[in-house]
Amino acid sequence: MSLIANALSNIKPSPTIAVSMKANELKALGKNIISLGMGEPDFDTPQHIKNAAINAINQGDTKYTAVDGTANLKKAIINKFARENQLSYKASEVIVSTGAKQVIYNALIATINPLDEVIIPAPYWVSYPDMVLLAGGVPVIAQSSSENNFKITPDELKSKITSKTKWLILNSPSNPTGACYNQDELQSLVEVLIENPHVYILTDDIYEHLIFDDLQFYTLPQIAPQLKDRCLVVNGVSKAYAMTGWRIGYGAGPEKLIKAMSMIQSQSTSSPSSISQAASVEALNGNQDYIQQGKKIFQERRDLVVSMLNKIEGIECNQPNGAFYVFPSCKKLLGKKAVISGVEQIIKDDNDFATYLLEEALVAVVPGVAFGASGFFRISYAASEDFLKDSMSRIAKACEKLK
Ligand SMILES: Cc1ncc(COP(=O)(O)O)c(C=O)c1O
Repeated sequence: MSLIANALSNIKPSPTIAVSMKANELKALGKNIISLGMGEPDFDTPQHIKNAAINAINQGDTKYTAVDGTANLKKAIINKFARENQLSYKASEVIVSTGAKQVIYNALIATINPLDEVIIPAPYWVSYPDMVLLAGGVPVIAQSSSENNFKITPDELKSKITSKTKWLILNSPSNPTGACYNQDELQSLVEVLIENPHVYILTDDIYEHLIFDDLQFYTLPQIAPQLKDRCLVVNGVSKAYAMTGWRIGYGAGPEKLIKAMSMIQSQSTSSPSSISQAASVEALNGNQDYIQQGKKIFQERRDLVVSMLNKIEGIECNQPNGAFYVFPSCKKLLGKKAVISGVEQIIKDDNDFATYLLEEALVAVVPGVAFGASGFFRISYAASEDFLKDSMSRIAKACEKLK
């Protein structure tokens, strides 16, 4: 009998974490690697948020809290939804978890029966399909095209819905493409969803505040109140307030679902950290200037990276409206020859291309295949302007060497 459960045979470790580990190994060998692989802001958590955590510790706020989050944090979340998304929730419709990742995991474990289907638009965040598999479900991939700026159309959605569809996962702004659905695009998906009342919608809004070009963020239940009872809205403080290590995410949805998710959490991790929850109250209720500052810096970096990438022969990069990723195509460079690990080889796919960039340019990027889209690669521009300029010119030089 094997020690490891069969359920694990279908899942893989997070490829983004694998890239950053490989980059760290090379750094430890003294190589001057620039890592554009990780999905976290390079800024520090704002001081007023840190102070709230320090106060919480000093005041003895260091015990277990209610499993689904403190009353104070739930109130701050309810106010956030009312203020920013015009959505009204009761405390029993909100859960706080150890990161948005745990909210999503709880939701899938709480709802999926064997062979239930979950529609995941590709390119997707690496964890969605594996979480669905762990929950015993079937990920159904809806491929979007770069021509449509990596957004699925109503017809593409319609073609994936079956009687077994339990969830559609929407993520806008998107990791890995930075794509954002505008109001009309969401509305056209809403029409398909209204016709299919058995489908629930998990909207992962973790990059809500990283949206550029004066585009307005909309979450699906905001524009379709009639679908609110079928939506789980997922968000968190990780990306908006540079708080990835604090591990606080939250979800809002129908009470029955939230109750089931809390039950799972109560038997796995119990409450999220009391200190991080106190810090998150300050993040959501306190001064919000940080968000505007972060947004401005990320938009400037996006402009820099997209323009430098598009000057490289063979690379084509859309200009996304959000998050801190770009998802360029390397398709025109496939089939060219390069020296990889000391041997001349043909660059067959985006995996080879990313390995080549790591070895030749000393720049770590993540191959598109990890996100369900071969022929592309993801760059996270959550790095300083100097690092970005240096890494883009290293990538340009490495691409020039391809024959
Ligand atoms: C699309 C998406 N959803 C959720 C998460 C998880 O966020 P958290 O740090 O709150 O667990 C990430 C983190 O990379 C993400 O990119």
